Amino acid sequence: MNIILRAKKIKKSFYNPVHVEILKEIDLVVHQGETVAITGRSGGGKSTLLQILGTLESPCSGELEIGGELVSCFNKSKLRNKKLAFIFQSFHLLEDYTALDNVLMPARIGRQRSAPGSAAYIRGCDLLDQVGLSDRKHFNTKLLSGGEKQRVAIARALCNDPDIIFADEPSGNLDRQTSHQIHDLLLAFAKNSNKTLIIVTHDPELASLCSTNYRIENGELRQNL
Ligand SMILES: Nc1ncnc2c1ncn2[C@@H]1O[C@H](COP(=O)(O)OP(=O)(O)O)[C@@H](O)[C@H]1O
Ligand SMILES: [Mg+2]
Repeated sequence: MNIILRAKKIKKSFYNPVHVEILKEIDLVVHQGETVAITGRSGGGKSTLLQILGTLESPCSGELEIGGELVSCFNKSKLRNKKLAFIFQSFHLLEDYTALDNVLMPARIGRQRSAPGSAAYIRGCDLLDQVGLSDRKHFNTKLLSGGEKQRVAIARALCNDPDIIFADEPSGNLDRQTSHQIHDLLLAFAKNSNKTLIIVTHDPELASLCSTNYRIENGELRQNL
């Protein structure tokens, strides 16, 4: 199987106001189509690691390769727009925009045409259909429920057909039943299109649905076998 992401000796410390070492020397290899869950105590560094793997934050030292390319300050924005997508606990939608506008945002950032009838527009509508929101396309996202917002975020994550989807506590703000629906949706997308999913979660049920389980403990990443 192809290696889609490789992290080598990733270290991260914060210095404000005192030095705290959050990630000690993390090595990780993720294959295409793998679904990875990362668990661990609150404050243990899960979000920090996810942000580093997703190129949103820089490590203090260490290397990151995505799709065989070494990530640097020169290529990371382009890599992120073309190959990576993110789903957050608090959705991070543009609330004054419609569901469809949110879904099309990655295409627009990538300078694709997105007017009605364009390939991106048709794909955006299709993705909203797939997450069960065909009748909410033109709703402002501030009018949607939490579960619906997270569905929009999933459709947005799939807009540019990314290789890796990063999710940080994707169901942390949702009730149990809605959480299940979101988990099923995410894992079904990953499986059907052979996407790689890297999820930080507190939910042992969600972790058990993933193919590989890690936990962060004292700044180290350990695999749960
Ligand atoms: N920008 C920052 N400056 C200083 N400390 C930070 C910063 N970001 C995160 N931290 C600290 O790093 C630790 C790990 O945070 P985080 O990765 O968010 O943990 P988790 O997601 O596992 O709950 C926490 O103690 C947090 O306070
Ligand atoms: Mg966190």
